[in-house]
Amino acid sequence: MPQFNRHLVTAALTYANGPLHIGHIAGCFLPADIYVRYLRLQGRDVKFISGTDEYGVPITISAEREGISPQAIADKYHHQIKTSFDGLGISFDIFSRTTNDKHREVAKAFFKKLYDAKVFVEQESEQFFDEKANKFLADRYIIGTCPNCANEKAYGDQCEKCGSTLNATDLINPKSAITNETPIQKKTKNWYLPLDQYQKQLEDFIGAHPEWKTNVLGQCKSWLSQGLQARAMTRDMEWGIPVPVDGATGKVLYVWFDAPIGYITATQELTSDWEKYWKQDDSKLVHFIGKDNIVFHCIIFPAMLMAHGGYILPENVPANEFLNLEGDKISTSRNWAVWVHEYLEEFPDQQDVLRYTLAAQMPETKDNDFTWKDFQLKNNSELVAILGNLVNRVVVLMHKFYDGKVPETKGCDELEKICGDFKNSIAKSIEEYKFREALMEVMNMARHGNKLLTEKEPWKLFKTDPKEAGIVLYDCLQLIANIAITCEPFLPFTSAKIMKQINLERQKISWSDIGRQDLVKPGHQLNPAELLFSKIEDEAIEKQVAKLVKPAATTLEIKEEKTTATLAQKQEISFDDFAKMDIRIGTILEASKVEKADKLLKLKVDLGYEVRTIVSGIAEHFKPEDIIGQQVSVIANLAPRKIRGEESKGMILMAEENGKLKFMTTLDPIANGSEVR
Ligand code: 2FM
Ligand code: ZN
Repeated sequence: MPQFNRHLVTAALTYANGPLHIGHIAGCFLPADIYVRYLRLQGRDVKFISGTDEYGVPITISAEREGISPQAIADKYHHQIKTSFDGLGISFDIFSRTTNDKHREVAKAFFKKLYDAKVFVEQESEQFFDEKANKFLADRYIIGTCPNCANEKAYGDQCEKCGSTLNATDLINPKSAITNETPIQKKTKNWYLPLDQYQKQLEDFIGAHPEWKTNVLGQCKSWLSQGLQARAMTRDMEWGIPVPVDGATGKVLYVWFDAPIGYITATQELTSDWEKYWKQDDSKLVHFIGKDNIVFHCIIFPAMLMAHGGYILPENVPANEFLNLEGDKISTSRNWAVWVHEYLEEFPDQQDVLRYTLAAQMPETKDNDFTWKDFQLKNNSELVAILGNLVNRVVVLMHKFYDGKVPETKGCDELEKICGDFKNSIAKSIEEYKFREALMEVMNMARHGNKLLTEKEPWKLFKTDPKEAGIVLYDCLQLIANIAITCEPFLPFTSAKIMKQINLERQKISWSDIGRQDLVKPGHQLNPAELLFSKIEDEAIEKQVAKLVKPAATTLEIKEEKTTATLAQKQEISFDDFAKMDIRIGTILEASKVEKADKLLKLKVDLGYEVRTIVSGIAEHFKPEDIIGQQVSVIANLAPRKIRGEESKGMILMAEENGKLKFMTTLDPIANGSEVR
């Protein structure tokens, strides 16, 4: 095992085409953050790199959907995604983006070096072409049936269901994602990376890592055993980094060529010492990714690095499987997701509850399920009842019996050993990328403290044997200080809160301090007790579950692929649920377009008792001038929402029939403000 003097840890560059959801977090960002925080606590030299992936078809498809430019999509989501990561305490050293100038130059130079070294094979081939849209159809612009698992929604470059990487021509019954037409094939020239020529080198590289996770090795071996084939590294598209060679007009770098180079660019942006991290054998490169990215990080990017020369290869690629939600696949278009920005708004100051639940349910070896019930249970029965309870009891008793001043006594050897053992087992698990196991051990430390308190009952002992009571509480206090260190990678906000209560400075503590029984010295003054966690009630959970079903009348985003007839009926609600809605008749007085939002109209609606501003996603269906005077049904007591800077108070009810919208209204005019029941 080589001795590593520095770590370079990357987390997959997220496509900047939509908000961040819990699947992203559990898939790679949380495990990467835990790993990096642990290394930092150990005082290791580590750089944590990520950013947004802003080229490629996922971006252009979203741009077309939202009616804005690809750059505008990337700008919008880059900032939103970055804010979500910050809010959740994902502690990147840099969070960059692939559309910046520096990255374009770095990626072009990388391509040029391979081109000049005659690595690429220039090849004319038949590519799918949509005659109606007059476009070559790269990657996700082609949808068809996966030849490996029969998933009918496989993309031209990849099947997300079985994780296999495809060429568009592999798909059965391919269709254009733009027009849904069957594409024709048309000749075009592209540059291919001859992966076949790297087969042996890649086999040796992967063969040297029997310690990798079995899900990762499984995919690699299946690829290698099928025999690698050349793969196009350029595309006929407008959106992307132009191919920097003559005769390549209208062609851009394949997004999976430029994106991993983004890790290199971001390191260059971060530090002038970047070459140490990328080129020295004593650097450990670890890529955290989701399972759909395995082949790109274990085969294609390493082959690119080998072809280029001078770079180290990843030491590990600890890919996670997928996280499902309430038993179903997370889906952006069906709004079947827990969005991080919404979570942070609705559960302020409870970042660690989500981090805890996701770490405990991390899909490390198989797909796993997040449920709101489990989230509630983990909070109430574990964070509140075990960790929160221990810290609170100890700090409160310290104040009660000693005015918050640590009693004069000394630590016990047994506890030193117990904490030392926990330190070793947690470190081992983290270093083996077994984060669930490590987290369980952290909680076991807290369980140990609660057991001590329950057995010794220092609150009773104080009356009969104050010296012994002092020893017990002192021990528990040291244990808490130890937990503040071991829990930091998982629960950084909680760790900071514990540190604050026991009045210790985070900067002065490191991983090597775990075990010590004098972290908080006799005579040291504690701060007042504060609850670490609070109970989450059923209503809060029910509200979240109810939100998962897309509201029929929300016309902001109509992306549903199902036809009206096949829409599944929503979950049953009670009469009381229905009665909570205040639906009123109103008349549209004014309607105007919302700037830079092709789907939105800003309406002034007379509800009889007041005139409301309502922003509605109906601009693609109605011209503003055509709907003045239209009577509508309005959910009048919906909580106000800010949409594109406009406060919208209420929602217009619409019926949707196969993608067309119709107003829900009465046959005869009716007084504004009339109630609909
Ligand atoms: O699957 C994805 O979300 C890709 N955007 C990941 C890219 S990782 C890297 F190579 F940049
Ligand atoms: Zn498949």
